Amino acid sequence: MKFFIDTANLDQIREAQDLGVLDGVTTNPSLMAKEGITGRNNILKHYVDICNIVDGDVSAEVIATDFEGMVKEGEELAELHPQIVVKVPMIKEGVKAIKYFTDHGIRTNCTLVFSAGQALLAAKAGATYVSPFIGRLDDISTDGLELIADIRLIYDNYGFETQILAASVRHTMHVINCAKIGADVMTGPLSSIEGLLKHPLTDSGLKQFLEDYKKGN
Ligand code: E4P
Repeated sequence: MKFFIDTANLDQIREAQDLGVLDGVTTNPSLMAKEGITGRNNILKHYVDICNIVDGDVSAEVIATDFEGMVKEGEELAELHPQIVVKVPMIKEGVKAIKYFTDHGIRTNCTLVFSAGQALLAAKAGATYVSPFIGRLDDISTDGLELIADIRLIYDNYGFETQILAASVRHTMHVINCAKIGADVMTGPLSSIEGLLKHPLTDSGLKQFLEDYKKGN
């Protein structure tokens, strides 16, 4: 299972990279705005800065919502760095753009996916990744994890190679449950990864070991 961090904050990306378990980064226009990164040139530079920190894939989202605009922007994004994956929204023009990018060797992440049907369409168009937003489904009393399980079943039925990127992960149990279901990737905040570390028996066990060592030395 790949671990991506869902942020445009360079310090958090560095911290996750230093942990040695980071496989990539996802961003979106809201995350860029949160870091105060505005203006086309600054945003493009920020994507390159992120690519220079991590070894893996970095999702960069198109803003256009028409086919020609998405293709133009996506080609520009893909040119920035070999690690860039073009993030395209699950709308009709987006599906056409994903197919275009697939045919032209540009990797894509189909974003804003909330149903199994949308995920099926993304795979048919050849998306590299599909991003079902599980946290946002949970927010409206719909089981996000059930969607991950449905997509896993459908993709396995037909051998689709599109990777399931569980997005909008909010906490550590989301990560564990996505791993149990078989999501290929998860993207979430640094806290969702660091939460995997924690167990009170580890802390008390280590405390005891160190105390016992001191007694004999
Ligand atoms: C995915 O790529 C999105 O950036 C993200 O996971 C959205 O998460 P949120 O619902 O916490 O905003």
